[in-house]
Amino acid sequence: MSKTKIVFHCGECGYQSHRWLGRCPDCEAWNSFAEEQVVSDSSARTAPGLMQPPHRGPGMSEPVPISKIETSPQSRFTTGFSEFDRVLGGGVVPGSVVLIGGDPGIGKSTLVLQAFNHLAETGKTVLYVSGEESPAQIKLRADRMGVASLHLLMISETCFETILPHIESLRPMAMVIDSIQTLYTSEAGSIPGSVTQVREVASRLMFYAKRTDLAVFIVGHVTKEGMIAGPRVLEHIVDTVLYLEGDKSHTYRILRGVKNRFGATDEIGLFEMKGAGLSEVANPSQFFLSERPLEATGSVVVASIEGTRPILIELQSLVSQSYIGMARRMALGVDPNRVTLLLAILEKRAGLHLADQDVFVNVVSGIKVQEPAIDLGILMAIASSFKEKPIDPRMVVMGEVGLAGEIRGIQHTYARVKEAEKMGFKRCLLPKRNEEMLRREGMIFETMDLVGVSYLSEALEWIGARDALN
Ligand code: TYD
Ligand code: MG
Repeated sequence: MSKTKIVFHCGECGYQSHRWLGRCPDCEAWNSFAEEQVVSDSSARTAPGLMQPPHRGPGMSEPVPISKIETSPQSRFTTGFSEFDRVLGGGVVPGSVVLIGGDPGIGKSTLVLQAFNHLAETGKTVLYVSGEESPAQIKLRADRMGVASLHLLMISETCFETILPHIESLRPMAMVIDSIQTLYTSEAGSIPGSVTQVREVASRLMFYAKRTDLAVFIVGHVTKEGMIAGPRVLEHIVDTVLYLEGDKSHTYRILRGVKNRFGATDEIGLFEMKGAGLSEVANPSQFFLSERPLEATGSVVVASIEGTRPILIELQSLVSQSYIGMARRMALGVDPNRVTLLLAILEKRAGLHLADQDVFVNVVSGIKVQEPAIDLGILMAIASSFKEKPIDPRMVVMGEVGLAGEIRGIQHTYARVKEAEKMGFKRCLLPKRNEEMLRREGMIFETMDLVGVSYLSEALEWIGARDALN
C-alpha cells in the first residue's frame, strides 16, 4: 500500500516539517521551505537492498581492536591537474564521493570533463552521466577542449535505476553525476531536485561507492534562486566537498576544499578559464600581481596563506574626502567589519582623522582573504592613500593588529617570506616576534631585508620610504 503525504523541507539545510514555516528553526534561513509530496511505499523501500548498508556475510560485523584493523595503502589516482589533486588531498581515493558545488556556468562540467578525460587516457573506464546536456552538446564542448578518449563513456540519463545497470556492467573506476539536481530515483516520490530526492540519490551513490570502490563525483549547483535543494543537504553525506568559485568577469577560478575526509581542508587550487577549457595556474602570486601599478598610493602587497600555500596578493585602498555628511566605508574581498575595526584603530592609535573620509578597500582580482595576518596590509594601504604617499613596491607587509595598536605574531611566517623573496621582493615588514623567531631559528633570507615592528606607528613610518634598497 502506498500513501501520499505532504511534508515541507528547508531548501538550505533539509530540515523537515509538517507545515510551512517562514523561517527555518535549524539553519535560520528565511522563506526556504518548499512543499513535497512523499509517497511512502513500504514494499518499494525494502526491495532493492541498496538502502541498506553493505552486508558483511552472515551475522553482524564484530567490534575489533583498532590496532587489529587491516588497511590497504590507499592507491589514489591523479586527475591530471596537480591543483585538483592537491585540493583532494593528493588525488582521487577509490570509493570516495566528492561533491563539486558552484554557481551555474562557473566551469564545473568543464573541470570534471577534463579530469575524466585524463583518467580515461590512462586506459581506465570512466562514466559521465549528464542529466543537463545531451551527449551531442557535451561532444561540442569536448571537441573544443581536445577531449576524445575512447574510455570516456557518456550517458544522458536522469533516472537512477536506469543508470545502475550500466554501472554494474561497465564497472568504471570513476563516474560523475552532472548534476545531482537532475537525477531522481523512482523509489522516492518527489520531484527531481527536491531535498528528498537529492538526499536519497546521494546516499544510494554513497553506499554503492563504498561497496564497489567506485569514485563518484557529484556536481551540484548552489545558487539560492535557481535551485531547490541546497548543498548543505549533501555536505554531511559525502566524503569531500569542493567549491568552484570565481568572478564571472575574471578568468581565474578557485577550487576550494571545505570538507575532506581524506585530506586537509581550506586547500585551494587555482585555474584559469581559457578558450580550450581550464588550465592550471602554476604561479598564483605572479598571476595575482601581474597588473600591479608600481607607484600608486594605496597599493600594498600582502602574503596570505591559502590552505598550505602562501600567495601574494595586492590590496588597494582609496581614501577620499566625503561630501555626503556620513562617510562611506566599503570593503570587497575582506570582512567589512574587520575594516571598520581597523579604521577605529588607525584613528585612535595612529591619530589619522578619517571620520570625514570615504574609505574603500579592495582585494585585487576579486579573491577573498579571511585571515587576520593581512590586518597590517589593510592599514598600510589606507594610510598610504590618505597620506598620498606610495608604499615601496618591493616591500611586502604582514601582521595582525590588536586593539592597542600592537602588531601581533602570525603563523607560517617562513613560508610567506620565502614566497615574497621568490617573487623578487626585497623587504618584509612583519611582527617583531616573528622576526626574532626567524632569526633565532637561523632562517636565512639572502635577498630579503626583514623589518620587525611592534606597534602600528612604527610600521606607518615605512610609508613613503624608499631608501637603502637601491
Ligand atoms: P560549464 O563547465 O558548463 O559550467 P557549469 O557546469 O559550472 O555550469 O562552463 C560554462 C562556462 O565556461 C561558459 O560560460 C563558457 C566557459 N567556457 C570557456 O570559457 N572555455 C571553454 O573551453 C569551456 C568549455 C567553457
Ligand atoms: Mg554544467
